[in-house]
Amino acid sequence: MSGASLADKIRQAYYDGSATPKPSEKELDEAMSFFMAASSGLDKGRGKAKRHYYATVIDVCGGHGMLGMLFVLYARASSAIILDRKLPLSFAAMASNWAPATLRFVITDVRDGLESTLADAARSATTATTPSSPRVLVVGCHACGYLTDYVLDMATAAGMDPPGGGHRLGGCPSPPRHTHPSCCHCYGHRLSVALDMARMGRLAALPGYDVLLRTMDPSITPQNRILIAKASPPPAK
Ligand SMILES: C[S@@+](CC[C@H](N)C(=O)[O-])C[C@H]1O[C@@H](n2cnc3c(N)ncnc32)[C@H](O)[C@@H]1O
Repeated sequence: MSGASLADKIRQAYYDGSATPKPSEKELDEAMSFFMAASSGLDKGRGKAKRHYYATVIDVCGGHGMLGMLFVLYARASSAIILDRKLPLSFAAMASNWAPATLRFVITDVRDGLESTLADAARSATTATTPSSPRVLVVGCHACGYLTDYVLDMATAAGMDPPGGGHRLGGCPSPPRHTHPSCCHCYGHRLSVALDMARMGRLAALPGYDVLLRTMDPSITPQNRILIAKASPPPAK
């Protein structure tokens, strides 16, 4: 595969890998597409020479873990922690097929385990011998909607960069009247879009964060918005 791009090699390793069960091709497309959109958003305004590098990426509700692994395969992070309450067999398969250098799976409910995982990752990031300004990045793709705000709050409270996105909202069959779901319905807006706009506003109001919205190809997933909040680098000493 000489001359093939890294993306081609990563895809080929997915197809060639003998370990099973693999996540579906749709999940591969989503993870690749999320990774590309999120990393271009994280780099925006930094210039090519200032491509941002993370000591650790934490993939919350990561399941198969491909999103976190991609950050390591593309050398955007030196290690990945996949956090999920269930350890799917497809995680072990992709860990073997892609063999990213440093990978760990933490089995926990996000609400029990994210805070301590963030604190551990931040401690190791400050002691690791890594290129300039190593930081911790929190990502979540198709994390359950009710957890999205919790994850954003935890990550920003710890000063991390949290691109969340592809939110999957729990079914909202018939919202009670005079609530924001019912207003969205009345005015013909999608609740998931309205909630993401509200989240953007909330993140933008935090001091020290740049907030961006990116979208993925809707044919890959209709839940295609990626919210990105970048913490400003600490002032130079
Ligand atoms: C739709 S899957 C998304 C998996 C993967 N991120 C992706 O994009 O394909 C949602 C994942 O969230 C996990 N999950 C749901 N609620 C959770 C919680 N409270 N704590 C930890 N993980 C949770 C599930 O086990 C599942 O793996």
